[in-house]
Amino acid sequence: MEILRIEHLSKMYGKGETAVKALDDVSFSVNKGEFIAIIGPSGSGKSTLLHLLGGVDRPTSGKVLVENTDIYSLDETQLAIFRRRQIGLIYQFYNLIPVLTVEENMTLPLLLDGHEVDREELSRIVGILNLQSRLNHLPNQLSGGQQQRVSIGRAIISHPAIMLADEPTGNLDSKNSAEIMDLLQMLNKAYQQTLIVITHDERIALQADRILTIEDGRIAKDEVIRP
Ligand SMILES: Nc1ncnc2c1ncn2[C@@H]1O[C@H](COP(=O)(O)OP(=O)(O)O)[C@@H](O)[C@H]1O
Ligand SMILES: [Mg+2]
Repeated sequence: MEILRIEHLSKMYGKGETAVKALDDVSFSVNKGEFIAIIGPSGSGKSTLLHLLGGVDRPTSGKVLVENTDIYSLDETQLAIFRRRQIGLIYQFYNLIPVLTVEENMTLPLLLDGHEVDREELSRIVGILNLQSRLNHLPNQLSGGQQQRVSIGRAIISHPAIMLADEPTGNLDSKNSAEIMDLLQMLNKAYQQTLIVITHDERIALQADRILTIEDGRIAKDEVIRP
């Protein structure tokens, strides 16, 4: 079942002489529960693509359809709600809020959405992430791997349909990196959460169901690894 459809997506940054075409007429579709790795040289447009899939930025032209809704036909308020409910974003440098505790960082998306925190669900997720003893810590009191687990907690707390990760292990050693990828894949399989990961790590890419190679803002290759 298709969850995501990208149609003729293009993105220009800047104007005139300094204009950069970061994405150039990209089209593909993604099935629910698929795990896709996005690879390609630095500056090829990977992060731009991921941001457009997540409703973080607006394209210059083209469409992103999530469950058949054209997300860029939404106004800013609706788009913000879509992001909070449907998209879990994970970055290389975690992007946690430094003055909030682990628990506060994780539950922020629910509170912003006006939902109460389901304590049972929270403790289940905290258990999966192995953060039980760190709930009242601040981000700077955690290791890199722990901070990334908090950011995963924040990304999954509202059970988004789609998890988007931009080099999530780029700042971690190989042990923590493997743990984070195991966790993301477990969530992908257990909850049928669609997982799209940008990576420079070939081992990670080979764990995916499908590898998209981006070059010069275009899809250079689209390879199915596991049908
Ligand atoms: N906010 C921005 N303003 C201007 N140019 C940008 C911006 N973000 C990215 N770019 C340019 O767009 C191209 C694609 O960038 P990006 O999507 O970050 O590539 P990647 O993630 O593959 O390294 C690069 O040439 C980059 O310099
Ligand atoms: Mg990037």
